[in-house]
Amino acid sequence: MVASLDDTKRNAIAVKLASIKALQELVIENEQLLLREGLDAEIADRIRNFIKDDEKNLGVLETVITQYGIQAEPKKNVTQFIEKAKELFKGSELSLYEKVSQHELLKHQLVMSGLIVHKAAQKVGADIMVAIAPLNTINFENRAHQEQLKGILEILGVRELTGQDADQGIWARVQDALAAVSGVVGSAVTQTSDKKDLNIQDALRLDHNKVNTLFTELLQSNNPQKIQEYFGQIYKDLTAHAEAEEEVVYPRVRSFYGQDNTQELYDEQAHAKQALEEIKALSPSSPVFKDKVKQLMDAIGDHIRQEETTMFAAIRNNLSTEQSEQLASEFKAAKVRIQQRLGVVTESNI
Ligand SMILES: [Fe+2]
Ligand SMILES: [Fe+2]
Repeated sequence: MVASLDDTKRNAIAVKLASIKALQELVIENEQLLLREGLDAEIADRIRNFIKDDEKNLGVLETVITQYGIQAEPKKNVTQFIEKAKELFKGSELSLYEKVSQHELLKHQLVMSGLIVHKAAQKVGADIMVAIAPLNTINFENRAHQEQLKGILEILGVRELTGQDADQGIWARVQDALAAVSGVVGSAVTQTSDKKDLNIQDALRLDHNKVNTLFTELLQSNNPQKIQEYFGQIYKDLTAHAEAEEEVVYPRVRSFYGQDNTQELYDEQAHAKQALEEIKALSPSSPVFKDKVKQLMDAIGDHIRQEETTMFAAIRNNLSTEQSEQLASEFKAAKVRIQQRLGVVTESNI
């Protein structure tokens, strides 16, 4: 398929997401190094809490990227920047204050990148908004970390300059700033901040909802270029979803969901794959293009209904919570592998 202009936008967002992930990993590594610097108990506690949030958010980011549907490499200059930052953090060239100060800038960079992805998604498509929604929580937490880092910087800065401790009141101000930040993002945080791991039903449902959004976007559009873009994403998403189900989910449920029921799901996906190939060969401005897409959407709709009713019920009755969560991570890992096979985006192919 010829890459359209909007594929370029989608790929650019994928590269940005990969860069955010690389920065998030750097942030965790830095925080682990900071803990070795002999910090006061209160500061060390705060950093330990950052690490907890940041590790959880790295997992959320990985889910967002898989959900987004395009695996990419971070931008080359981001990778180079990260290498330099690592050296500085390991070395003794920077004072503790300077290290924390650089760390705060990293958090700032993460927050800005998250906001930009959010705004860019609004320009490119509703399906992207669906995929990246959890980024809001990560952004909130990074902003909250930034506020606390400012408090830590005040303490360390005054100590480095004067050898004495700053006046009281720093943490009270930090609390006020945190309250202001949480006022901005409010409910988005309470919804997901303590969220348990996804179970397999959640993971499959997320994909089903996203592909439904894409079908709706495509059918509502009269712009052949947009139609091509939406179809390209439907093709990638359905291929990764269906292959990961066939690799991980269907073999696991066959014994309790039944041989015939499971076989039916395999057969329906084989038909869907054929339909995808047929549509791929058509021009998006051809009069039958949308009819074929509509037929595929209806067939996929029936297939999804079967999975979400009888198959989900069978999973609920036969797998423990842990087994279902484990299956979800195997499903996500399989999807990442398939997405990578479908093509990892780098700066040079945007
Ligand atoms: Fe499915
Ligand atoms: Fe399926």
